[in-house]
Amino acid sequence: MAAPARRLVRSEPQEDARQAFARDVLAGLMADRKWIPAKYFYDAEGSRLFEKITELPEYYPTRTETRILEDNGAAIVHHFPAGAALIEFGSGSSIKIRIVLAAADKLAVYVPVDISADFLAAAAASLQKDFPRLLVLPVAADFTRPFSLPLSAQKRPRVGFFPGSTIGNFEPREAEQFLCHAARMLGRDATLIVGVDLVKDTQILHAAYNDASGVTARFNLNLLARINRELGADFDLDQFEHRAVFDRELSRIEMHLVSRKRQSVAIDGTTIEFEMGETIHTENSCKYTLKNFSSLARRAGWMPLAHWTDAEEYFSVHALGLSR
Ligand code: AVJ
Repeated sequence: MAAPARRLVRSEPQEDARQAFARDVLAGLMADRKWIPAKYFYDAEGSRLFEKITELPEYYPTRTETRILEDNGAAIVHHFPAGAALIEFGSGSSIKIRIVLAAADKLAVYVPVDISADFLAAAAASLQKDFPRLLVLPVAADFTRPFSLPLSAQKRPRVGFFPGSTIGNFEPREAEQFLCHAARMLGRDATLIVGVDLVKDTQILHAAYNDASGVTARFNLNLLARINRELGADFDLDQFEHRAVFDRELSRIEMHLVSRKRQSVAIDGTTIEFEMGETIHTENSCKYTLKNFSSLARRAGWMPLAHWTDAEEYFSVHALGLSR
């Protein structure tokens, strides 16, 4: 019988997670320009909606990156030391990792790290079943903050896997900091495989974040529904609308929730006022050129080893190394 996923390590107790959510939401909504960290999109419903986004005809990143991984699996895993532990930052539903694991037969340990604990447990169990020789050790954690790796991963050479252009959620300065943090976590001689979405035609970018079927709008609005559910707030979802625009100067898609009228919302005993047309900035999705991203990686102490793209250069996958 296949070994079950052994345990789910939670990096912080559930109650602390709720407190952190309340604190971040209130701090963001009391700021001059209202904002909420994008990592809070991913409760169970948000993760489900994100999965639907990845299947949209307009949303090219997932499909393109998956194809890049399929076409270059052997070249990518060539950068993995034998007996390595693979740490995935923000593992979600793990379709991409299956492609990598299928190509990497010398991998010993797989550590999926995700903020959505329930989603993670199910995905890890199913992976463990399909890769019985691999030790699957899920960690429920906010990977943007320090967390400890399971012992079995600490004892092995480490490879980081950060697909999906999730790195685009950080502003370039924060992305650099994250790459430094990843270098410290992964340690000497580490390798990092990272997916990076590329700058392209505005219409293509716009369509990807304003899909015709409105799934991205529901994904964005679910953030308010989640605040209602978990923090007992009284957001009226019909009174906010989804907006996503590409800012070419800053090279990023910005997602906002726009207040349709002047209104106030009660959250955890605090009243937040909205002007008509005022927005909550909910996400940045930064787009890079191949060159820009390589320089950013270098500034964070990583050496670009190789990169792969699709024919249209919509998306890229980079291998970075630490040893010089
Ligand atoms: C998961 C951050 C890569 O920026 O494209 C998709 C999230 N937001 N549609 C992205 C997202 C709206 C996605 N990342």
